[in-house]
Amino acid sequence: MSQQVYNFGAGPAMLPVPVMERIREEFLDFQGMGVSVIEVSHRAKQFEKVLLDAQESFRQLTNLPDNYKILFVHGGARMQFSALPMNLAGRSASKKCLYVETGNFAKLANKDAKGYGDIQVIASSADTKYDRLPAITPEMIDQDAAYLHITTNNTLYGSRYSQFPDAGNVPLIADQTSEILSRVVDYSKFGCIYAGLQKNLGPSGTAIVVIREDLLGHASAETPVLLNYEQCAKDNSLTNTANTFAREDQ
Ligand SMILES: Cc1ncc(COP(=O)(O)O)c(C=O)c1O
Repeated sequence: MSQQVYNFGAGPAMLPVPVMERIREEFLDFQGMGVSVIEVSHRAKQFEKVLLDAQESFRQLTNLPDNYKILFVHGGARMQFSALPMNLAGRSASKKCLYVETGNFAKLANKDAKGYGDIQVIASSADTKYDRLPAITPEMIDQDAAYLHITTNNTLYGSRYSQFPDAGNVPLIADQTSEILSRVVDYSKFGCIYAGLQKNLGPSGTAIVVIREDLLGHASAETPVLLNYEQCAKDNSLTNTANTFAREDQ
């Protein structure tokens, strides 16, 4: 390499040099198999270990309770904007899904959700160009709702929750794409968190979804199989061919 170039873009973001060096070392010969990780079967036992190790590291780093599943899914974070109501709106007879709109991705999250539930924005700072996080009081949260969705760090605006709303019995769902693993978070306060890998965890195109087990099993009948979190959990994220490279460097 002639010169190390620093990329301060939010994502795809730089990976630590030791990680890149290990990828380079292993790229042609993954764990002595004589093939690259991008050539290896996603059902090979060596790859299964990669997947289990990535899940275990995440569980340990976040002190994640045992009743949460860790899924690796296709389509990045944005795919989850639609997958969430498909999987969770059915928790409530009203199919009410509550959103807080605090930036462009928070807006897209509720826009992409439309059609898969009764999508309601309970607070927004759009009028002031997303310069604040609107206060969320318990009275604003209909306890009959399927979930409350927030974006914990608003990538383009830099606003970040220091305290998360108390949603009572309504599961709190968070898009953590631009801050995942950058601070200690008590995940037991959340029903589900998700993030695209490309900013803090690895290459683009794959997302991590961490979901409490009791929230699985509510998907609408129309949910495509690859967006169905319960199916993904049953198959340990191997319903179809996984992106083996994205998981290897975590
Ligand atoms: C907070 C947040 N959510 C969602 C996304 C969309 O992620 P993806 O491109 O993986 O779909 C981004 C991308 O920058 C983001 O910053």
